[in-house]
Amino acid sequence: MKITIETGDFRQTETDAILIPILEDDMHNELLLIADAALEGRIQAFLNLGDFKGKPKTSSVLYTNGAIKAPRIILIGLGNYAEITAEKVRQVAGYTARQTRDMGLKSITVPLPPETQDDWAQAAVEAALLSLYEFKEHKTQSDDKDEDNKSLGALTFLVGSEVEKSLIEPIVERGRTIANGTMLARDLSNQPGNHLTPTQLAEKAQEVAEATGLNCTVFDKATLEEKGFRTLLAVAQGSAEEPRFIILEYTPEGEGHDTVALVGKGITFDTGGISLKSGKGMDEMKHDMSGAAAVLGAMQVIGHLKPNVRVIGVIATTENMPGSTAIKPGDVVTSYSGKTIEIMNTDAEGRLILADALAWTAQYQPNGVIDLATLTGAVIACLGHIAAGAMGTDDTLMEKVKNAAEKTHERVWELPLWEDYDEGVKSKVADVQNIGDGTAGTIAGAVFLKKFAEGYPWVHLDIAGTAWGVKGSTYIPETASGYGVRLLVQMIEDW
Ligand code: BES
Ligand code: ZN
Ligand code: ZN
Repeated sequence: MKITIETGDFRQTETDAILIPILEDDMHNELLLIADAALEGRIQAFLNLGDFKGKPKTSSVLYTNGAIKAPRIILIGLGNYAEITAEKVRQVAGYTARQTRDMGLKSITVPLPPETQDDWAQAAVEAALLSLYEFKEHKTQSDDKDEDNKSLGALTFLVGSEVEKSLIEPIVERGRTIANGTMLARDLSNQPGNHLTPTQLAEKAQEVAEATGLNCTVFDKATLEEKGFRTLLAVAQGSAEEPRFIILEYTPEGEGHDTVALVGKGITFDTGGISLKSGKGMDEMKHDMSGAAAVLGAMQVIGHLKPNVRVIGVIATTENMPGSTAIKPGDVVTSYSGKTIEIMNTDAEGRLILADALAWTAQYQPNGVIDLATLTGAVIACLGHIAAGAMGTDDTLMEKVKNAAEKTHERVWELPLWEDYDEGVKSKVADVQNIGDGTAGTIAGAVFLKKFAEGYPWVHLDIAGTAWGVKGSTYIPETASGYGVRLLVQMIEDW
């Protein structure tokens, strides 16, 4: 969908529908009064019936019968003014975009009230674009031709003056850029395992880097062997596909900038390995690279927005397969950091590959490191699909993550990482083991990672619940959500 900003009078605008946002507690805004006058009191007469009360996620279509240029006016409920939040705006924008698309409209126009806040406008742009997202790459035949023809092609914001237009333009642009990064993450995550191998993920990263002016380095298997990424290689050794290690770098102009690293788990398919998963729902493990997808999506946005922070994107990627050469429960490997790990369960592979990635990242002397990983089923039992589990070693960094989560509604909830939990990852034969003691599974994952995230402030986000399976949102589908892109970008911008 194309989003443009124009100046002008909505009564003269050629479009399939004029959308008028209506507050529940103050229905008579200026736009409504103008529209009502043009329609000779028909809107007021309609409102008097009480059919439409301005509640969020409700709308009413009125036909203008030639009274203005557009054939329809659609009243869009916003709820009470005091209760409007950026998230409410997102939900309303997503609802409206989907609703007007399903009606078969091709173009809609929204006159922006002058009191529209910047963050609300950005939220509306993001959600309108994200709500129309579909993943249809592998469909050669349509399920429903009528539905296919329905595509909302144009959203126009109408403003009062050229000055207003020049103020809103960069906000729309940033909303679009962030939505695109989120949709890139969704596309990658939705891609089946046979269409997105570690090699293909690395190629994609190189494409993104080239298009956005980021630096990109990819380590192939031979390089990983040479450099000693032994835990990443250990997970990869049961698969016919080669692993990859991807580093993306964004460096702002000038000197003295802080460095932030974003680290993503990129298991392109997780069978569990020799500790094989059960068949039910295993297809969902194509999404087990959603952390990597979020990092790549965020790096694309960062490449465009050019914030004043140096940002390093780090992705460790491999399949987790049960081939005859696969690692076995009880195997001991020496990680990149030199610490030895007893692999008690080959299905706890995410923390293994992240161990090497986190240890590698220390060389950048980062001022903060955030890792994102679909690490544990336990986080779904704990927080559902509503919030990611957040655990870390630095309160200031955790605060930054929480602030960004609040603003973007990509929610996090902190779980403790007290030393008392360290006992759980002790091994009889190696420095650590990879499954904990069977309690507090999400924290056990983080405790393990903590052993390798040394020398910098660090926060781990367990996104196994939020990366897909989200229900009830107007702008997030139940498949891949793209969780993390908006949060990471917000955090970097506010750094
Ligand atoms: N990728 C899974 C975690 C997962 C499970 C994500 C369900 C989304 C939905 C991860 O690699 C895994 O299998 N973790 C194990 C760890 C256990 C063996 C300690 C888990 O959660 O069961
Ligand atoms: Zn696993
Ligand atoms: Zn996994």
